[in-house]
Amino acid sequence: MSEIQTKKQIFKPNKEFSKSARIKNMCEYQALQDAAIENYEGFWGDYAKEKLDWIEPFTNVMDERKFPFVRWFDGGKLNVAAQCIDRHLNSRKNKAAIIFEGDRGDKQIITYLELYYNVNKFANLLKNEFDVKKGDRVVIYMPMIPEAAYAMLACARIGAIHSIVFGGFSSEALKDRIEDAAAKVVITADGAFRKDKPYMLKPVVDAAIDANSPVEKVLVVQRNGEDVEWVAGRDYSYNELIKSQSSICEAEVMDAEDPLFLLYTSGSTGKPKGVQHNSAGYILWAQMTMEWVFDVKENDTYWCTADVGWITGHTYIVYGPLAMGATTVMFEGVPTYPDAGRPWKMVEEYKINQFYTAPTAIRVLHKMGEDEPAKYDLSSLKVLGTVGEPIDPPAWKWYYESVGGSKCAIVDTYWQTETGGHIVSPLPGATPIKPACATFPLPGIMAEILDPATGEKAEVGEGGYMCVTRPWPSMIRGIWGDEERFVKSYFGDVKKDGKAVYFTGDGAIYDEDGYITITGRTDDVINVSGHRMGTAEVEAAIKKHPNVAEVAVVGKPHDIKGEGIFAYVVLKSDDGIADELEEMKTINKVIQKEIGNIALCDDIAFVPGLPKTRSGKIMRRILRSIAKGEKITQDISTLEDPSIVEKIATMVNN
Ligand code: WT7
Repeated sequence: MSEIQTKKQIFKPNKEFSKSARIKNMCEYQALQDAAIENYEGFWGDYAKEKLDWIEPFTNVMDERKFPFVRWFDGGKLNVAAQCIDRHLNSRKNKAAIIFEGDRGDKQIITYLELYYNVNKFANLLKNEFDVKKGDRVVIYMPMIPEAAYAMLACARIGAIHSIVFGGFSSEALKDRIEDAAAKVVITADGAFRKDKPYMLKPVVDAAIDANSPVEKVLVVQRNGEDVEWVAGRDYSYNELIKSQSSICEAEVMDAEDPLFLLYTSGSTGKPKGVQHNSAGYILWAQMTMEWVFDVKENDTYWCTADVGWITGHTYIVYGPLAMGATTVMFEGVPTYPDAGRPWKMVEEYKINQFYTAPTAIRVLHKMGEDEPAKYDLSSLKVLGTVGEPIDPPAWKWYYESVGGSKCAIVDTYWQTETGGHIVSPLPGATPIKPACATFPLPGIMAEILDPATGEKAEVGEGGYMCVTRPWPSMIRGIWGDEERFVKSYFGDVKKDGKAVYFTGDGAIYDEDGYITITGRTDDVINVSGHRMGTAEVEAAIKKHPNVAEVAVVGKPHDIKGEGIFAYVVLKSDDGIADELEEMKTINKVIQKEIGNIALCDDIAFVPGLPKTRSGKIMRRILRSIAKGEKITQDISTLEDPSIVEKIATMVNN
């Protein structure tokens, strides 16, 4: 079936499912969206009252006088950890909060009551042993083990701001993030297991902390039991210290707008930005989207395969599921080990009802184990989710038919670190879905595709910029330490009716039925296996190689990863490159050191020069076309040296 044909197909929601869904049809969806349009603050205020437990009620729903610095639910007081744990203790104390499965198949079930005690002890440890106070920053560099969730919730309980750094980042990347946030504590583990083998994290932390580091204490959770170095007076064993902590720790009373966490993400400059989310608005939308988009019911078991190091892991493994009192599965391993049937085996075993993963994983599982789903009983599945990058129709179709048995809704959830939670997504009981299409804005979210030139709504089939025209509760509150960059990054490009609106950085297009399809980034950010990577960040790393004079990085379509990294490198001297493969290895070594394995280049072309305008701007569009093997149709007459294009194209395509 051709891509176009697949695209046009519409799949109606499963009738049985719709009957008991929270939003049952498009009329109900439209009514909610109309209500939000009619009385925006009333809509959000009512949900905030209904969904959250307030220690003190808020007095104002939204304050946008200092737009784009917007405040939600001012006057309100609450604690996010208490939202996720304490309020469930009456009705769900013995319900599984977290089901953990390790790489090697070891299992743990943590009930809400156990979670309560574990988090309290962890919070007491941070408070009593390390003097962590409200507002202090704590970096978490952890594998996917329950203690990662305890650490997050412990910070939230005492009002500390956590900043999780994905375990695949190198010591340099970790160091930058520690220093930018001036974190005084790092929580890590000795390491963990991957494909039945131990790997290490603590040595990376050691290398990230030098004499000038703001870090005073390092807490080490034992996971794989391997030997690690120990710095006296700085490093402490979680397993030892936790023993003597009290299992009661009162939750700090937090303002609605007190910061909850920072999460660093890539932008279009070399320096990652510390995206800040605050308490009430974030947790409200995390919970509401869990309920609407996954439609998790009281006895369901929900599994999101993300890592807590990314926003998906924050909102849809820890905060969202726990806020609604769900059972969330946490998995340490990789989906293809011991074989590409692992996730389906787990779905069968735990009777998973909602499964949420990334297109990259779907493509790998499809490629390596097309027939694996048929070997397992997947009848418990009701909703399948995808996130992180555009999914291609063939992968979508396999997911829908072979995994979902053509009876599950696929929710293609579009959002980003900055939005805190989903903003455009199907509703599983309501939205007729089309393959690889994020469909419609969620109720309450004023998302629109705008023509950047006019600020008008984009015409059908024309394409435009994916924007949100009104602030929403879980919106990014700032970039840590850089107000100007916050305003410039998100509110500089598109104006509607003369007023700056939030621009996501993504392009999108309406079809004739008004459905939204996300077409990908419009800036110099690429999406490698669902991981966001700034080309400028990779370029800055490559420039640290002593023999590199100039470099330009672009994305190139990749079968599995979505996009791969393609670097054009001009060397200072090419005496040494008798062996290009060797040179490529040394460049990738530098990337590995500066950023981590997630940013390794798939291709490096050693070229005599880069296509630049007379003012010195590198024409990346040309480089993208060459990387794809496309014919150059752009006007190159304005280049400083037009002949370079032909030279590079010949080199790359031979
Ligand atoms: C970027 C955000 C959102 C959690 C994981 C990534 C792309 C995200 C989709 C989707 C097409 C998508 C966008 C976005 N993206 N979801 N359903 N369809 N593209 O978070 O690292 O902040 O990346 O991922 O380009 O801007 P992130």
